[in-house]
Amino acid sequence: MDIINDPKEIQELTSRLKCSGKIISLVPTMGYFHAGHLSLMKWARENSDIVFVSLFVNPTQFGPKEDYNSYPRDFERDTKMAQEVGVDYIFAPEKDVIYEPDHGTWVSVPKLAQYLCGKSRPGHFQGVCTIVLKLFNLVNPHLAIFGKKDYQQFVIIKKMVKDLNVPVKIIGRPIVREIDGLAMSSRNSYLTQDERKQAANIYLGLKKACEWTKNGVRDSETIISKLSECYMEHIPSGEIDYIEIVDPTDLTPVKTIDKEAILAVAIYLGKARLIDNILLEVK
Ligand code: PAJ
Repeated sequence: MDIINDPKEIQELTSRLKCSGKIISLVPTMGYFHAGHLSLMKWARENSDIVFVSLFVNPTQFGPKEDYNSYPRDFERDTKMAQEVGVDYIFAPEKDVIYEPDHGTWVSVPKLAQYLCGKSRPGHFQGVCTIVLKLFNLVNPHLAIFGKKDYQQFVIIKKMVKDLNVPVKIIGRPIVREIDGLAMSSRNSYLTQDERKQAANIYLGLKKACEWTKNGVRDSETIISKLSECYMEHIPSGEIDYIEIVDPTDLTPVKTIDKEAILAVAIYLGKARLIDNILLEVK
């Protein structure tokens, strides 16, 4: 596995690889790998010839009061883990090379960014879209793999690629969870032991909501208020940012669940802000 820091070098390398007919995949990440990240790399390994992983903690997607400086980083551990799953190249550029002092172009998908996490993280998805499009232009992959844990991010990137005719296929992969159901996240490392125990109830609540829907509850408001009560009881140290039921493609709020919908939640717990989601099915 090779580590590349220089954007020019990566562009030259991938255009050579493409000319020789190789299928290239990219897994964009901010590092501090866990099994969720690794599942994306493994999928890429099985479905393409050359696997690139970008590792860049992107400053422009963090708000001024957010955790950019304290975001967990462990480059050596990450490179070992990536090597073990068969990644070919890690692209780990320096911040100042990616954002030069005169950087002045931003990409946004405002219609989709107004919902869910976009409300409490203004500017976040603009930062995400801008870095992801830059990575696509640098690596020029055939495939790019994203996790559905960040469901809104996945939908927004797909829309950006469609609207701007970016020649890359976006693949969405399922959420990887800890044994007790907590969605894996680099930010889980912020949790104290007690918070970590409470955090497992986020997913247990989502599963209960799935059952309520299957048993015939169709009114979103009813599900949201039942789930909110459940979280207040079982995650006493948490503070709910949002619980919403939205359309899986355009993220608009759903009032009555008469077809598949996404139930998405965000909860502040200690130093972390945890997100999760589940597909509500109507049988
Ligand atoms: P990061 O949080 O490092 O996540 C990198 C990728 O891993 C994303 O596609 C995310 O959805 C996926 N992922 C995280 N936890 C997962 C889990 N438990 N199961 C499955 N997939 C999971 O998302 C970002 O970085 C950044 O916003 C980025 C796209 C790299 C742009 O900076």
